[in-house]
Amino acid sequence: MQYKAIRGFKDILPGQMEPWRRLEEEAKQVFEIYGYREIRVPIVESMELFARGIGEATDIVSKEMYAFRDRRGNHVAMRPEATASILRAFIEHKLYMESAVHKVYTIGPMFRYERPQKGRRRQFHQIDVEIIGDPGPRSDSELISMIMQLFSLLELENLELHINSLGCPHDRGPFRAELKDFLKDYTSQLCQDCRERMETNPLRVFDCKVERCIEIMKHAPTMLDFLCDECSRHFSSLKRDLERLGLEYVVNSHLMRGLDYYTRTTFEVQTRELGAQSAIAGGGRYDNLMRDFGGPDTPAIGFAIGEERVVELLEEHAELDEPGPYIFLAVLGKEAEDKAFVWMHELRKRGIWCEMEYQSLGLKAQMRRADRLNTKWVLIVGDDELAKGIGIMRDMSTKEQTEVSLGSVVDEVAAMKERS
Ligand code: HAM
Repeated sequence: MQYKAIRGFKDILPGQMEPWRRLEEEAKQVFEIYGYREIRVPIVESMELFARGIGEATDIVSKEMYAFRDRRGNHVAMRPEATASILRAFIEHKLYMESAVHKVYTIGPMFRYERPQKGRRRQFHQIDVEIIGDPGPRSDSELISMIMQLFSLLELENLELHINSLGCPHDRGPFRAELKDFLKDYTSQLCQDCRERMETNPLRVFDCKVERCIEIMKHAPTMLDFLCDECSRHFSSLKRDLERLGLEYVVNSHLMRGLDYYTRTTFEVQTRELGAQSAIAGGGRYDNLMRDFGGPDTPAIGFAIGEERVVELLEEHAELDEPGPYIFLAVLGKEAEDKAFVWMHELRKRGIWCEMEYQSLGLKAQMRRADRLNTKWVLIVGDDELAKGIGIMRDMSTKEQTEVSLGSVVDEVAAMKERS
């Protein structure tokens, strides 16, 4: 019996890690500059948390949840996103008592039972960022400019920033009614799902991927025409800020996002290079979710980056060399092997990546291995060199060789590293 990873779940092998590391390390550095702290929340939560938070009528909850009963019969689910869990943690640990505004991020796997395809997996990874406690609109523009700074540091090109406002619940009522009215004329042409959405949550018809529904929605009323003065001012201030910061944007009034908790600002960063799965990040404001979860009335905004999609762009564009050891110790003879083993230990203690081979291979085989590891230097030590106290240091890129005193070889290598 040969086991295979199940559909929609993928291994990320050691040789594929570099773009992932680049993305996550760059993200963490940027988040630090903006004052974010890391939070980690569980992968499994009560099913109810996601149903309440994301919305019963969303595709994520109604079709895509990895939900099951545990051994005690509790209805639990593997998280499809992180926002609901982060708010649950805030309320549970009363973090809102510590300070007025919290900036947090988390990185990890999410699970949605979607049809796997390019850029869409059943287990995928998100970098999720939230500002909790600030009503905006300044924090909206700060958040958006941070994500664009990250993408620019990663040298991602041809991105489009789409923004929209979904208003407040007060605006949403009349809009929903108008939308329902509009949809009534098209009932027979809508897909079966959208006919149901029309009754349960007509806004979700905007998310439909069926061509004829997309066509119909092109003529639908838009939320922007229903914004109250305050929501309208919020949106205008955001736009002005983005202009001040030199960030280009597209107002996309059809950007509803697939989760029910959003209020006011929503946004997505899209690429034209990944086909249908064009959103590499998306988010928005969710001012009422904390209160809906039984916490204090606390506004918040956040976004999540789809790591698989960014990794794909990095793989296509960036020259990412696998990192290699600083030095490889190529040894011949038992005595040299024993000495080198201790040097390697000392070098690693000094923070220098050093490798050697334990299987007493010939010099050629060791050099091949050093080459494959992408080593910068190789120190060659046989019994002759040991007797003379002089080893041979080979620069693997220029192939130049120099002599090095073995008496103080650890110090010499450390000094070389320091100078490089
Ligand atoms: P979302 O739009 O559902 O938002 O997901 C954010 C990003 O995750 C998407 O833009 C996409 O890049 C990636 N993504 C989603 N599903 C998949 C999948 N099946 N395979 C690969 N990548 C995927 C949220 O999850 C919100 N929690 C974001 C947020 C945070 N809003 C406020 N705070």
